[in-house]
Amino acid sequence: MAKHWADFQYEIYLNGMTGAVPRLPTDLTRLEELTERRLGPGPVGYVAGSAGDGSTARANRAALDRRRIVPRMLRDVHERDLAVEVLGRRLPAPLALAPVGVLSIMHPDAEPAAARAAARAAAAQGVPYVLSSASSTPMEQVAEAMGDGERWFQLYWPKDREVARSFLGRAKAAGYSALLVTLDTPLLSWRPRDLDQAYLPFLHGVGTANYFSDPAFRAGLAKPVHEDPNAAVMHFVGMFSDPAKSWPDLAFLRENWDGPIVLKGILHPDDARLAADAGMDGVVVSNHGGRQVAGSVAAADALPRVVEAVGDRLTVLFDSGVRTGDDVFKALALGARAVLLGRPYVYGLALDGQAGVEHVIRCLLAELDLTLALSGHASPTTPGPGDLVEDPA
Ligand code: FNR
Repeated sequence: MAKHWADFQYEIYLNGMTGAVPRLPTDLTRLEELTERRLGPGPVGYVAGSAGDGSTARANRAALDRRRIVPRMLRDVHERDLAVEVLGRRLPAPLALAPVGVLSIMHPDAEPAAARAAARAAAAQGVPYVLSSASSTPMEQVAEAMGDGERWFQLYWPKDREVARSFLGRAKAAGYSALLVTLDTPLLSWRPRDLDQAYLPFLHGVGTANYFSDPAFRAGLAKPVHEDPNAAVMHFVGMFSDPAKSWPDLAFLRENWDGPIVLKGILHPDDARLAADAGMDGVVVSNHGGRQVAGSVAAADALPRVVEAVGDRLTVLFDSGVRTGDDVFKALALGARAVLLGRPYVYGLALDGQAGVEHVIRCLLAELDLTLALSGHASPTTPGPGDLVEDPA
């Protein structure tokens, strides 16, 4: 019998014969509470917090929870393959780790640990790791840490064209194969948990590693970063994002990146159509985990309309609110090709470093594998809207 992700449960039960139990809960929804207890108020507020009163983050969960799976029987699910093709690459499972900046506030091993976990968790090929522009480790170091592991680069599109061009060139040279451009953060949103602590790591030069190591960025400084760190931080603040960008600007990215380009933060079907018209390769239906627009549509409610608009032209990926294997199943059934996982892996990192991230990936994929099988599917490509009902409650 082929090895299945679901076999992780037997590994856990067998280890239990010697008295060992998993170091972290296998119900991944419990990780947030544990992290809240272990980390300081600044970092935990930064990761668990959302925009406004948190209504979008709650809506993300509610929209997934409201949809219920209707399992089918007697469908021969003894052999299953979770592999899926995404952006021209064969992935071992419909999962990637979402770009999350500033991981050093969660754990000293930071992005290299998360990237290594992604590269290791799937035996053959690795779950893609999406590195944030705002990482606390330079992109080349993360690439080195993960060896051949599949990696994508997330761009916060800087105001300075030379820095943008330089980032893309560095990412390409360091083996990042796809570009995710995050469009939902032209400004930082109103985030009460961070505001109440007056906590913004970037102002302390944390989460700026790609900038401070960049030749084009440094060319704009009067003194080297170490001689005047405050000036470097201010230079970063001035160029981090650009609310003046509009759709025609996407041509710049096409000219400077020859691999797949995916727009992250798409919620409206018309924006998805504009992405397709602009020659993009995909979109991530996402509201940034509820961190940008309070009162926003839940990502899972936006997903079917985007799929209907561009599902035949673009690769549609999804994030925001995914916590469990059945959440992934629901996103697939709503038309996503694959899912990005955000906070849960960050909690895994905070609680147990690289091993914690591996634990999260393995639990999520084991639960997905079992949900597929127990619902009558042997592949992540076959669930569809007919596998779900909306809970009237
Ligand atoms: C993020 N996210 C994010 N997105 C991005 O494109 N670049 C980034 O640097 C960050 N940074 C970041 C930090 C933290 C602490 C969080 C929680 C999230 C958003 C992320 O990629 C993803 O869209 C959400 O995390 C998905 O929602 P869930 O899974 O966290 O609910």
